[in-house]
This record gives sequence, structure tokens and C-alpha cells, in this order.
Amino acid sequence: MGDKEKKPLKYRILTYGCQMNVRDSETIAGLLESSGFNQAEDLSEADLIVFNTCSVRHSAENKVYGKLGEIASLKKKRPEILIAFGGCMAQLPEVRQKLKKRGVDVVFGTHNIHELPYLIARAQEERSPVFEVWEKEGRIVEPLPSCRKPGLSAFVNIMFGCNNFCSYCIVPYTRGRERSRKADDIIRELEELAAAGYKEVTLLGQNVNSYGCGLEEKMEFADLLYRANSVAGIERIRFTTSHPKDVSDRLLQAIAECEKLCEHIHAPLQAGSNRILQRMNRNYSREHYLKLVERMRHYVPGVSITSDLIVGFPGETEEDFLETLDMVERVRFDAAFTFMYSQRSGTRAAEFAEQIPLEEKKQRLERLNRLQYQIATEINQELQGSIQEVLVEGPSKTNPQKLTSRTRSNRIVIFSGEKDLIGRLINVKITEAKTFSLFGEIFNE
Ligand code: SAH
Ligand code: SF4
Ligand code: F3S
Repeated sequence: MGDKEKKPLKYRILTYGCQMNVRDSETIAGLLESSGFNQAEDLSEADLIVFNTCSVRHSAENKVYGKLGEIASLKKKRPEILIAFGGCMAQLPEVRQKLKKRGVDVVFGTHNIHELPYLIARAQEERSPVFEVWEKEGRIVEPLPSCRKPGLSAFVNIMFGCNNFCSYCIVPYTRGRERSRKADDIIRELEELAAAGYKEVTLLGQNVNSYGCGLEEKMEFADLLYRANSVAGIERIRFTTSHPKDVSDRLLQAIAECEKLCEHIHAPLQAGSNRILQRMNRNYSREHYLKLVERMRHYVPGVSITSDLIVGFPGETEEDFLETLDMVERVRFDAAFTFMYSQRSGTRAAEFAEQIPLEEKKQRLERLNRLQYQIATEINQELQGSIQEVLVEGPSKTNPQKLTSRTRSNRIVIFSGEKDLIGRLINVKITEAKTFSLFGEIFNE
């Protein structure tokens, strides 16, 4: 790095968006550490500030622009600060255009993260901004160094990109075509994580059900899960996201058979009306989804089913919206992330006529949330008195006197206990239920 500086430069990474970005930020940290940077305790001490951005909704982009403005004024006082800008927003040409006037030193994309240290060195040497974004995905580059926060739970990529092109979604444009990591590489990573003390892994992909397509060896997602289940030291395995169009019986069987696989499936429905589902290019119907729910509950009794839901997709009528509410009532999701449709330029739905006014979207979101929260509360109340296996994560954020933990179904349980329980799997009895969390006490037979 900088040839004149003697002190190592300090970096800080600002991460926005989904788990993929959280994982990418760990790789960015690893790359920077191996090129001699140290992590800054605080943003104000950082010599290098890296934005790892998300463009899934307008609100996500706005947060980034707000923070960038803040950092740019910091840079007026300390002109030596370097700003690097990567992630999904950086893949979009219209965003890069805007960045030209924002004091950014390095722009890098989702496909060339591994080049970051070199791009920073170039910007320092040339004393002018370096924009280097690959339009297309290359080969999967690995192994890359990575700097994970020490802890219990780790994210592991099993695949990158997406081929589904749901008409509202920018992800296929920012993450490129779907490709899977080799099973051996994934299993090796799980073994390393186990050796480092991690107890839980979440396998990440935009559509994990199609894991294995394009690999030389014949491998399906279910096969990978059986192999992952046999890694000693890993006690819980989660995965996200499952596309409802292709959840196979073999996958459901694997969840039923593998004791480490948690009984939780995130299978986003998005909308309840067939007309809207079709316009979203989701490739399934509400009837298909209801059958899937039956199959999931048949193979895995008590399985927790969670969803993402969008309100106000272009052309969504009151009747269409009522069908979403109807599906929420029929399925009774354990939890759902709910969003107002956000127009993303470059996607097909952005061109659709009949965009829904913001006020209407807000009202639908409120009605949907009211129903979903009520259902989640009811399901949680049914758990009162039950015994749940939880993984103890640490002190509770809201009450540090207590401990926070998670059930296999991914519910938070707060309880009183000694700190030496952190990192262990124990049983708790549920004593009280709220919408987003449960309270309990240690259960000893
Ligand atoms: N691959 C995952 C999700 C990726 S994005 C899947 O298919 O489920 C996470 C969620 O953001 C999506 O499930 C969707 O509900 C929401 N989302 C994506 N694009 C959006 C948009 N333009 N407006 C509102 N919500 C959107
Ligand atoms: Fe987006 Fe659809 Fe791909 Fe999910 S499956 S990332 S919603 S295009
Ligand atoms: Fe994730 Fe946002 Fe990109 S949700 S894949 S960081 S657009």
C-alpha cells in the first residue's frame, strides 16, 4: 500500500442489504487485512471507508446516499480519507454516473471484490478515482481470505447469482447468472468453521433449490445437506432462500431426516393472486403454493414457514390484494417480511403501466402487517408451556441481565441464566409469548 505511510491504514466497512452482503463484507475485511490494513474502532478513525451497498429497494439506496453525503463532508475536513464503493448499487450504470461527482475514490462491483486491494493501491498511486466494475460474473474465485466476527453462527455461500428474473427484482442484474460452489469447497469451509468453534451455519443462495446445476459432479441441494449434516462440531444447519416453484420431496425428506437441519423453510410467496404472480414471473400459482405448504407440513410436522410479501405491485387491485390477505390466513406464516413494491429501473415491472400510488401501498402494507402480526402472535401463544431446544447466543440486547437464544424454528427466546450457557444447546420452557419474541425459563428434567 501507500509507500510513504508507515502506520498501517485503518478501514471501516459499512454494510447494507442481505446476508450475501454481510458475507461479502467478511471477505472484503479478509482481503484488506491481508494487504496490511487494520480495522478502525470507529468510523471517525478510519482512513478507508468501504460501502457495501444494496439496491433491492429505493429505501436501501437512499440510506446509502445519505451516509455517503455524511462521509463526503467528513472528507472535506480530512481530504486524505479514501472512499471505496461496492456491492449491488455499484453494478448499476446510472448509480456509477452519480458517483462521479461524489468524491468516491474506488468503485468496484460484486464480481471483482477480490481486486479491491489492488484498486485501492491504484487510486492512491494515480491520485485519481478508479472505477472498475465487471459487467459479467467470472469464474468463482476461491479461496479468498475472510475475516469473520468470532461467534457461534456463520453464513456460508453455496451459490451466487440468480436466473429467475422475477419482474420486480434487480438482483439478477447486480449478481449475474447462477453458479454453484463445489460441494467439497463448501464442506471444507464448514469443517474449518467447526474447528473455529462455530456451532450454526446458514447456507446462502438466492434459490438454494437449484444448487448443483452446472457443476461437473451430479449434486442436488439435498445431497449437499446430507453431507453438511455429517460435519462434526456443527450443531445446527439453516438455509435461505427456497423458491416455491421447486422445493423437492428429497429436500423435505432431508430436513426430516437430518437431525442438524432446522425445521424452518423460508419460501417467499410474494403475492396471493395468480394474476399478479404471473406478472411477477414467479412461475407458480396460489394452488401450487398451498399444496407445497401441505407437503412441507406432511414431511416435517411443526415446520416453521416464513415468507416475503410485496404489496402494491403494478396493477394490483383491491381484489388481488385481498387474495394476498387470504393466503396469509390460509397458510398462517410463522413470520413474514413485508415490503411495498419499489420501482427498480431496468427491471420489467418498472415499465408496467398502473403503478400504485404510495398512499395506497402504505395502507395495504399496514393492513397486511396487522393481519400477519396477529397470526404470528397467535402461533407464538400456542407455544406457551412447550419445551424448546435453543442455542444460547449471548446477553439480550434489550436486557443485558438476561440471555437471548434461538429455537430451531428461528424464534428468539429471552431467559435468565448464567453466562457459561452461551454457545450451548439447552432446553427452555416457554412462559410468555409476544409477536416477535418468546420468554422462557431453563428446563431441567
Ligand atoms: N432470492 C430471494 C430474495 C431476494 S430479495 C427470493 O427469491 O426470495 C428479498 C426480497 O425483497 C424478495 O423476496 C422480495 O420480497 C423483496 N423485493 C425484491 N425486489 C423488490 C422490489 N422491487 N420492491 C419491493 N420488494 C422487493
Ligand atoms: Fe430476485 Fe426472484 Fe431471483 Fe429472488 S428469485 S433474487 S426475487 S429474481
Ligand atoms: Fe442482497 Fe440487496 Fe444485492 S438484497 S443481493 S444486497 S440488491
